[in-house]
Amino acid sequence: MSLKNDLFLKALKGETVERPPVWMMRQAGRYLPEFMAIKEKYDFFTRCQTPELASEITVQPIRRYGMDAAILFSDILVIPQAMNIQVEMKPNFGPYLPNPIRTQKDLDSVIVPDVHETLGYVMEAIKATKEKLNDEVPLIGFAGSPWTILCYCVQGQGSKTFDKAKELCFTQPVVAHELLQKITDTTIAYLKAKVAAGVNAVQIFDSWGGMLSPIDYQEFSWQYIQQIIDALKDETPVIVFGKGCWFALGDMAKSGASALGVDWTCSARNARYLSGGKITLQGNFDPARLLSPPSDIKKMVHQMINEFGKDSYVVNLGHGILPNVPVENAKAFIDAVKEYKVG
Ligand code: CP3
Repeated sequence: MSLKNDLFLKALKGETVERPPVWMMRQAGRYLPEFMAIKEKYDFFTRCQTPELASEITVQPIRRYGMDAAILFSDILVIPQAMNIQVEMKPNFGPYLPNPIRTQKDLDSVIVPDVHETLGYVMEAIKATKEKLNDEVPLIGFAGSPWTILCYCVQGQGSKTFDKAKELCFTQPVVAHELLQKITDTTIAYLKAKVAAGVNAVQIFDSWGGMLSPIDYQEFSWQYIQQIIDALKDETPVIVFGKGCWFALGDMAKSGASALGVDWTCSARNARYLSGGKITLQGNFDPARLLSPPSDIKKMVHQMINEFGKDSYVVNLGHGILPNVPVENAKAFIDAVKEYKVG
């Protein structure tokens, strides 16, 4: 099976391209009126667990804008759910885990599940999405990093500091590492099942990696991401996005990952320098910059491509798209990349 548009996969391999590929983190979501129409009728996990809905939401932004890759509609928190940790998505609040993991006793009830049994609906959603995409563009599967998942499991909700998650790591490291290893084992099985179901690449979101000092990052985040890369890299390209993790780009570049995501606080030049200049980079438009007028967005995108270079590069935002971005501004971002000419 070959894809009609394989720009994204070429860029991940570092092959020469006419223009870089483009997609947006969290592209299937709240800034799209067609998404809001579905959201009004079904709650969050119903949308995730119903293959017809998840596949429809996945292809909505592709139909509207024609990005070079689709990302499956789901959430990183389906993993703790499958591990026997209750996860709720509260409207206007976000994730809520009523029984957070704070002790060895809490941890004992956490399982490494059979992912086909507990997360089979994700594999069904992948198959339904592949049919709808009709080999037009590649499909990205994803998971949270073990550290980012631990943050929610221990804190019990979103946080600016994730102080309770850090407290567990620093006062009960044995418990923290056992939890991280259980999450890692589940994630490896999960991503392998996703690849078998048809995704063309996977991305690991380490959204809260930048909360840790460089030394703590090695101990509580990076070593587990490395295990995931080791287990997956021969089966599929792996992208690692660590928000605020520019300090780890050197290790990441040697890890066997195909590409590294960077956020907007790191310049293209610095990211290329820190990652050694060869590996494919992905990013890093400030999501809030999509609130600028479309003509400014286009200029800034062309400048960004010139700074990263058109090859070994995937155009993206530096984090997820914001809900208040006008649809025409998102269009300007995608169109700017498609209109890009070297020079
Ligand atoms: O990128 C995509 O379009 C695919 C879908 C996707 C969702 N979540 C759907 C979603 C992806 C890739 C995620 C990943 C995710 N989820 C991350 C990592 C990326 C990042 O933004 O840092 C994290 C940290 C989560 C956890 C999570 N899920 C939070 C903090 C929230 C609430 C805040 C928010 O953005 O709304 C969610 C809920 C969620 N996940 C929504 C969507 C579309 C919104 C809730 C809803 O639609 O009812």
